[in-house]
Amino acid sequence: MISTDVLVLGAGAAGLMCAATAGYRGKNVIVVDMGKKPGRKILISGGGRCNFTNENASPENYLCQNPHFVKSALSRYTQFDFIDLVERHGMPFHHKTLGQLFCDNGAQDIVDILMTECEWAGVEVHLRSEVLHIEKSDSGYIVKTTDKSFQCQSLVVASGGLTMPKLGATPIGYKVAEQFGLEVLPTKAALVPFTLHEHDKQRFDGLSGISIPTTVSSEDGTSFKENILFTHRGLSGPAILQISSFWRAGQTVTIDLLPESAISDLIQQWRETQSQKSLKNLLSTVLPKRFVESLVNHKDITDKAINQLSKDDVAYLVQYLHHWQIKPNGTEGYRTAEVTLGGVNTDELSSKTFEAKKAKGLYFIGEVIDVTGHLGGYNFQFAWSSGVACGQAVS
Ligand code: FDA
Repeated sequence: MISTDVLVLGAGAAGLMCAATAGYRGKNVIVVDMGKKPGRKILISGGGRCNFTNENASPENYLCQNPHFVKSALSRYTQFDFIDLVERHGMPFHHKTLGQLFCDNGAQDIVDILMTECEWAGVEVHLRSEVLHIEKSDSGYIVKTTDKSFQCQSLVVASGGLTMPKLGATPIGYKVAEQFGLEVLPTKAALVPFTLHEHDKQRFDGLSGISIPTTVSSEDGTSFKENILFTHRGLSGPAILQISSFWRAGQTVTIDLLPESAISDLIQQWRETQSQKSLKNLLSTVLPKRFVESLVNHKDITDKAINQLSKDDVAYLVQYLHHWQIKPNGTEGYRTAEVTLGGVNTDELSSKTFEAKKAKGLYFIGEVIDVTGHLGGYNFQFAWSSGVACGQAVS
């Protein structure tokens, strides 16, 4: 049996950050992970360049049953603290859009920083070791893995969510929570592409690869102004991934295909300058041509010369193009989702230390808890912030 002050279950973003923070405080810290490498999700994130934080991160960017829960951790370790860390390591990075920060070289740089911090803090990382079983002992917890047994005073569960099972996602964190009497809220894939009903699939056949800047809204009134992308399987792109976190089965999403300009104004201008031209040709100057052709071919829009459009035609176009409605069949699920909605109920945890109120010495951080960020580096920021808050508290 290996004894340690702190055992961290999961060498992901939250676990490594927590381990280094606790190690710097002089704690003996061991991290256990079933993977061959640490930080496997970091490595594939952001298309391999890891969108490691967002300059605009604030509590409003998170979904959680208790919207106040994230405030403490986010304010005590902010995006600027993490930016400071990567700068101290000399890591080159760049701004993309909407405050998103990405590595210049690749996501390995972030893993290297976390592993260097862990090394400097004296943290031991045990890989290829799957946690199978946990029990309470007199002085803390006993953790049994496929090849070892550990005794620890504090156990930090940083086992992540259920997305990408190929990368070692397991429900161990939820099982441990339930074992110690904590409520786990229902989980669901989020930041995930939509699949379509057969008739829509056929309608959009041939549009794969087309991207359109839009504003997408869910039935609860949430909206995101970003691109949608037609794919072979359905609809994706940042706007769709964002809205998937707010969509419930059976609901419709509404898409404003021309968020920057009112179609009624455009038609008015076209009437004045090019009234003989066809609606199809002119719409193709503001929307992708193949998309407009598909709308006309499927008789969603009737092609006419601009000077032939009646008042009703214009009213129809306003409704159609600014309130385009899609009823997804479902989502692509955990296989391709970026995050898991739901998880350990935050009411069960201290928002300062992330310790379970019902189980002394047991902590939950990162994605395993019911905190889900928007797309754009917010999920990693919560992993860093919750990891630091917990690392500062574990005994
Ligand atoms: P994470 O999942 O990172 O780590 C959990 C660890 O626990 C894993 O290493 C796993 O192997 C280990 N584990 C699980 N069960 C175990 C067991 N029984 N025994 C031992 N070990 C076990 N976010 C963002 O902010 N910016 C981005 O660019 C992206 N991009 C992105 C792309 C893709 C494709 C995905 C799937 C996800 C993203 N994300 C993202 C989300 C982000 O990756 C995610 O929110 C964080 O990795 C969560 O960090 P955690 O440390 O909580 O879990």
